[in-house]
Amino acid sequence: MRSYRLEGFGGTESLAMRDEARTEPKPHEIVVRVRAASLNRRDTMILGGTYPLPARQGIVPLSDGAGDVVAIGDAVTRFAVGDRVTGSYFARWIDGRINAGLIDQLGCTLDGMLTEFAVLDEQWAARLPDHLSWHEAATLTCAGVTAWNAVTGTRIPKPGQWVLTIGSGGVSLFALQFAKLLGCRVVAITSRAEKAERLRALGADLVVSSTDIPEWGGWAREQTGGIDLVVETGGPATFAQSLIASTLYGHIVLLTLQDASGRSIEMPAALYQRSLATISRLFVGSRSNLEAMLRAVSQHRLKPVVDRVFPFAEAPEAYRHFQQGDVFGKVVIDCA
Ligand SMILES: NC(=O)c1ccc[n+]([C@@H]2O[C@H](COP(=O)([O-])OP(=O)(O)OC[C@H]3O[C@@H](n4cnc5c(N)ncnc54)[C@H](OP(=O)(O)O)[C@@H]3O)[C@@H](O)[C@H]2O)c1
Repeated sequence: MRSYRLEGFGGTESLAMRDEARTEPKPHEIVVRVRAASLNRRDTMILGGTYPLPARQGIVPLSDGAGDVVAIGDAVTRFAVGDRVTGSYFARWIDGRINAGLIDQLGCTLDGMLTEFAVLDEQWAARLPDHLSWHEAATLTCAGVTAWNAVTGTRIPKPGQWVLTIGSGGVSLFALQFAKLLGCRVVAITSRAEKAERLRALGADLVVSSTDIPEWGGWAREQTGGIDLVVETGGPATFAQSLIASTLYGHIVLLTLQDASGRSIEMPAALYQRSLATISRLFVGSRSNLEAMLRAVSQHRLKPVVDRVFPFAEAPEAYRHFQQGDVFGKVVIDCA
């Protein structure tokens, strides 16, 4: 079987494809024939050696992947051969709050999904909805759960309330789709006006180009009367505008604190003094969050947005495409 391993940190030259023997499952393990995997921002940080949780040298990268169970250990009860599954980001975090003992992540400290066969503890996986293709099913573990928890985790916005999303990456597009499932109205910010039609087609009620209106916070507040929930994926470049856009008691889920150059978000006192917005944070989510999201995806037959699919042999090219930043949805690697 073929697997990629991270043999060092830096650029895509650290990604080495290896031919390896298949491992037999231990009593509580399942063997998954991975059909597709997908990239998240954290995977480029892990590759570059800048991710806050240090990755294990030689790790199989990527948290997100989908496949079918082809073998199970003697004591497995959660799955049978033939089940379609995906992995859970913080593999050991089943439910409740995270703690220091639960921080192991697929594709970082535990072998991930950029392989033809992944061996997972049965507790680390969840069953997939039937209506998704393998490419779609491979996109949910990180971006999907993050967006799900941003929108439904603490203060769930009510039908008719306004949600604001930033950019066209995986988290933003899932947040847009989940907000529409809840009956919310959505303002989508994009740096590229040519993406406006596709954002509208996904359900965005208002789209604004941050290139045309760099001070979009005031514009969004004026148009909507104030945003109830901002899914803040932009970080230092957008945080002040998000604060300006928010209604007095708004909610900002702050998903990223730094940009690629290491610049951190700043809290402009003059702005925050005029606001009673709650700023909250989250780290992706638990397996029970993943399962709750998958139930909603199944119920609404929601289709994740795939930007582009690369063959397994071209995984380094997929990383480069993702890193250049101009994507619309998820970058997928076909492993079938
Ligand atoms: N805290 C957590 O648990 C958590 C979990 C997942 C992700 N995150 C964070 O959430 C953010 C979004 O992640 P993501 O994977 O969905 O998307 P991403 O790949 O970081 O975002 C891509 C989108 O951002 C916009 N963008 C504008 N300028 C860019 C640039 N120079 N480089 C890259 N993107 C640029 C683009 O949208 P437009 O062209 O429309 O402007 C692009 O499509 C990341 O910062 C990630 O680290 C946090």
